[in-house]
Amino acid sequence: MNTPLASIHRSTCRQPSLLPSRSMAMDTYYYSMLFVLPPILYMSYHLTRILADKKKPTTHGLKAHPLLGHLPAFVNNSHRFLDWTTELIVGSPEMRMGFWIPGMRTGIITGNPADVEHILRTNFANYPKGEHAIGMLEDFLGHGLFNSDGEQWLWQRKNASYEFSNRSLRRFVVDVVQAEIADRFLPLLRRAAGDGGGDGDVVVLDLQEVLQRFGFDTICMVAFGHDPRCLADGGVMEDARSEFMHTFGEAQDLVVGRFFDPIEVSWKIKKWLNVGTERRLRKAIADVHAFAMDIVRARRQSASVNDRDDVLSRFVASDEHSDEVLRDIVLSFLIAGRETTASGLSWFFWFLSSRPDVVARIADEVRAVREATGTRPGEPFGFDALREMHYLHAALTESMRLYPPAPIDSQSMCLGKEMAYVQMKSIVANVLEEFEVDVVKDVAGGGVPEHVLSVTLRMKGGLPVKIRRKTEAY
Ligand code: HEM
Repeated sequence: MNTPLASIHRSTCRQPSLLPSRSMAMDTYYYSMLFVLPPILYMSYHLTRILADKKKPTTHGLKAHPLLGHLPAFVNNSHRFLDWTTELIVGSPEMRMGFWIPGMRTGIITGNPADVEHILRTNFANYPKGEHAIGMLEDFLGHGLFNSDGEQWLWQRKNASYEFSNRSLRRFVVDVVQAEIADRFLPLLRRAAGDGGGDGDVVVLDLQEVLQRFGFDTICMVAFGHDPRCLADGGVMEDARSEFMHTFGEAQDLVVGRFFDPIEVSWKIKKWLNVGTERRLRKAIADVHAFAMDIVRARRQSASVNDRDDVLSRFVASDEHSDEVLRDIVLSFLIAGRETTASGLSWFFWFLSSRPDVVARIADEVRAVREATGTRPGEPFGFDALREMHYLHAALTESMRLYPPAPIDSQSMCLGKEMAYVQMKSIVANVLEEFEVDVVKDVAGGGVPEHVLSVTLRMKGGLPVKIRRKTEAY
């Protein structure tokens, strides 16, 4: 044993055999520690590095603390997680970054097209959501489509895809969206524009909030045939808050917060102690579950279930699932469709505010579709008419590439893509036919709006706009 530790130990044993005084013993102790500690620290530093190097993926421009890994960098950047990870990915030759935090699994975030293809297409089965992620969402979403893997996911995906390709559900989606636009959305914008359209009558409207209410009404109708009326009776302008929408949003944000907590066990401890955010989350989940369960049970007893087109009624009619399974399916749809289109549209209207050329091209396309279908402004667009709006489709897609409404993607493909485009194209076409939308830049602070990262990419502080009726005859 020729290590420094061993030799120093021997030297301390060669003290005089007479019992030393207390202070002498202490001095010797401290003195010897001066020699012992540095080699211990030196060895543990290298040992940690060797072990860590085995586990951690290569990183570029991201410094790891020898003992805490990337925890300090994670904590310092958690408020700007998307920007931070994007900078690192862009700066890395492989366009991917890895991080490790002691006590947590190693993570890899990639923007490399070959990786994306490998994960989403060629080796899809190798990338389940995993017990870790599923465990975090389980108390809220159970094992619904959004929170399951393997067989459990496959049967729900197959059934839901089958329902979504069904013509009557497609027609139902178009009808729900067009009714919400004609009866609630456009009247609300007309009121916001004021009667005369002059500046004195114009109010500042949070368009993102209006779009969220729109999205919540329509997804609730499609998913479980329930109308929460978030946009009815004046919606935001009379602040008719929907309790269910509010509670659902709270539960969603709190549960997603678990993913951004760098100390993984901390939410579990808070949950066990029933304190802080976990206490609020428990209450919100209980309220959401009770609300959804009431609807599921009522639908089971409803005589009209076979005549209804919503997703829940279709699953109830097949009579194969427990109430809890049906509740989880419905909640998965709500989380998927609740804010995604509102997020996509908010960023799109913000883009349009600096691109009058794009606004003009969309307006031309909408006018051409009106002529081709023999319909007039203000009338609903049918499914086929919306399909003809190719330029609008491409413009929305490009905007979502730059500001993805569902920024944290795992491995599955969107099932509601068609419904999302129906909604977004109908809204943009109807709005640009009748109104001018001015983003209030001084309120929004001028530059690119800040975002809030959750299941969706929301604009921080909303999207303040002034709505004016178009002066030119359309
Ligand atoms: C602009 C709007 C939308 C975008 C950008 C979007 C995007 C996405 C993405 C990226 C996923 C994969 C999520 C993951 O597993 O990590 C997804 C899944 C899903 N989306 Fe959408 N979505 C949108 C609107 C909707 C709407 C309106 C619905 C309504 C029904 C919907 C239903 C679903 C469902 C059910 C899944 C889960 C699919 C599965 O796990 O197999 N989405 N969506």
